[in-house]
Amino acid sequence: MSFRLSLLHVLSLVFMFFSLSETVEFNYPAVFNFGDSNSDTGGLVAGTAEPLDPPNGQIYFHKPSGRFCDGRLIIDFLMDAMDLPFLNAYLESIGAPTFQRGCNFAAAGSTILPATASSVCPFSYGIQVAQFIRFKARVLDLLSKGRKLDKFIPQEEYFKQGLYMFDIGQNDLAGAFYSKSEDQVVASIPYILFEFETGIKKLYDQGARRFWIHNTGPLGCLPQNIATFGKDTSKLDELGCLSSHNRAAKLFNLQLHALCRKLQGQFSDANVTYTDIFTVKLNLISNYSRYGFEQPRMACCGYGGPPLNYDNRISCGRTKILNGTSVTAKGCDDSTEYISWDGIHYTEAANEHVSSQILTGKYSDPPFADKMPFLLKLKF
Ligand SMILES: *[C@@H]1O[C@H](CO)[C@@H](O)[C@H](O)[C@H]1NC(C)=O
Ligand SMILES: *[C@@H]1O[C@H](CO)[C@@H](O)[C@H](O)[C@H]1NC(C)=O
Ligand SMILES: *[C@@H]1O[C@H](CO)[C@@H](O)[C@H](O)[C@H]1NC(C)=O
Repeated sequence: MSFRLSLLHVLSLVFMFFSLSETVEFNYPAVFNFGDSNSDTGGLVAGTAEPLDPPNGQIYFHKPSGRFCDGRLIIDFLMDAMDLPFLNAYLESIGAPTFQRGCNFAAAGSTILPATASSVCPFSYGIQVAQFIRFKARVLDLLSKGRKLDKFIPQEEYFKQGLYMFDIGQNDLAGAFYSKSEDQVVASIPYILFEFETGIKKLYDQGARRFWIHNTGPLGCLPQNIATFGKDTSKLDELGCLSSHNRAAKLFNLQLHALCRKLQGQFSDANVTYTDIFTVKLNLISNYSRYGFEQPRMACCGYGGPPLNYDNRISCGRTKILNGTSVTAKGCDDSTEYISWDGIHYTEAANEHVSSQILTGKYSDPPFADKMPFLLKLKF
């Protein structure tokens, strides 16, 4: 009797501890990430040698870190939650980067569709997948020669057990709006997703079995898009976001979700998780004050002042002569009050919020709770 009570007591304490501390146990030895600036930890900066200026990085790394952010990205918070170190960029050639626990192929500005001569970033999705294939071949070759490099490269089985993460598509849609009508943008979605599927299949053929795919965010709420396309306020919804861009993002996400389901059906020995970041981000922008933010749309680091503090001629941290006067796109006093960092990317504070929501598992299909019943992890 007393034993039973105390066991119950212990169990409920353990239960309380696990729910209070929001412990989510992941079991991935490594992560391989593909994407755009939302998850670029230094790829574009290394690959183009075009530096980012302060105040990028100011709040966490205390210097520009190759991330388009004042601090950490969603991928950084997720790596933390998985008990893994931050990912190094594949293109980072110096500074003894270790790729033992994974590698990041994401590059800011990249698209799913192949880059063209006018693209911001040459490292589009197909190139990132090809870089992974080369990376894996190099690693296997080095592993076959001995254990000297174990500290720097993944073990062979990590390629099978590792998590393959994706956050890409935003630039395909947002970029297309500059030259296409909304109908044309929407009509291009199946082609974009066909390219995405082709890359996933290549990775599957390479042995990838655990896929985690982020959908795209509410593009219509980014100051960059509002400043460019929202001068006619009838194009804005009740949140002040561009209806056209958000509609296209939603249609993209519907089709991406369907693709994830289809792939899960085809790959019976793999797990494909679709994570709905759009809903989390829109909820944050809509209910910002409840989550401790003061500025739902205005950029922290930019030029021009309210309402958006965004000028597409001058990016965060840069100084330029505009109209005969030297001006600087400066950071705000307290970036934790802002959702938008530079008019295109989210602040660390916003990324932390979004990550904490992702980690509830509720926004994923299948939800984590199905995959990670934590009581199974308790060892008595
Ligand atoms: C904002 O919060 C309310 C109340 O929880 C919720 O009903 C609504 O869906 C939220 N807004 C968005 C865009 O998620
Ligand atoms: C440039 O300066 C003129 C005169 O002050 C002003 O009318 C105009 O709006 C300015 N243009 C821009 C792009 O700031
Ligand atoms: C996929 O998920 C199921 C259920 O959680 C699990 O049993 C299986 O090992 C997972 N497969 C891979 C490849 O991770």
